[in-house]
Amino acid sequence: MEPVVLSLGGSVLVRDEGDTSYIRRIAKILIGVSSNHKLYVVTGGGRTARQYIRAGRDLGADESYLDEIGIEVTRLNARLLITALGHHANHSPLKTYEEAVHAGRTHSIVVMGGVSPGITTDAVSALLAERVKAKRVVNATSTDGVYTADPKKDPSAERILRMTHAELVSLLGPSPASAGPSHAFDAVGAKVLERSKIALAVVDGNDLPNLRDALEGKKFKGTLVE
Ligand code: UTP
Repeated sequence: MEPVVLSLGGSVLVRDEGDTSYIRRIAKILIGVSSNHKLYVVTGGGRTARQYIRAGRDLGADESYLDEIGIEVTRLNARLLITALGHHANHSPLKTYEEAVHAGRTHSIVVMGGVSPGITTDAVSALLAERVKAKRVVNATSTDGVYTADPKKDPSAERILRMTHAELVSLLGPSPASAGPSHAFDAVGAKVLERSKIALAVVDGNDLPNLRDALEGKKFKGTLVE
């Protein structure tokens, strides 16, 4: 089965406190897609990670310790998705790429959070894609693609339908220096995808039928990087 890696933004996965409807719905979609594809899902930290990182920074933690706090939250989110996936996925979030490779031999869906300080789960997704020889990474995020500028700040920003890896790398610029939120995709992750020529689909994670199309390699609404 063709492997596909999904970078699932934490802010998409976990909504208002206690709202599990999205997790139930995406779990159903993933189980459906997994009958034809081997799925590797990397969950992000979302708002909870940002809150904890802010609190840790306020208390004087150094940046790599804040990254460790962020990683813990990505794994908490992974546990929620794992719970909804039941026997289709590994039992607890995997902590290394090696563990993920092994889990892929016995599970139709493999779920993990962050791995090491200094990166984000987008970069983890890209590195995992290299490891499992995936040709595609899908980034399910809170915007519906890569824009020429931040659409929240610049009303003239336009969605880019198709772009090369080199164009994405130059748009993202150098990777962020401190723990916390990044852009449409992590700059380190973009460079990893570029060196291994792995395609990237950036889609709105709220639009589940469209996300399913992207996972299945069909036409989708968003940005295709290849
Ligand atoms: P995310 O992957 O959710 O980062 O990890 P993000 O891009 O900042 O969040 P979104 O996508 O905009 O919501 C949360 C934080 O956890 C740490 C980083 O500090 C990151 O900002 N982290 C995560 C790591 O240090 N290493 C990892 O492998 C993963």
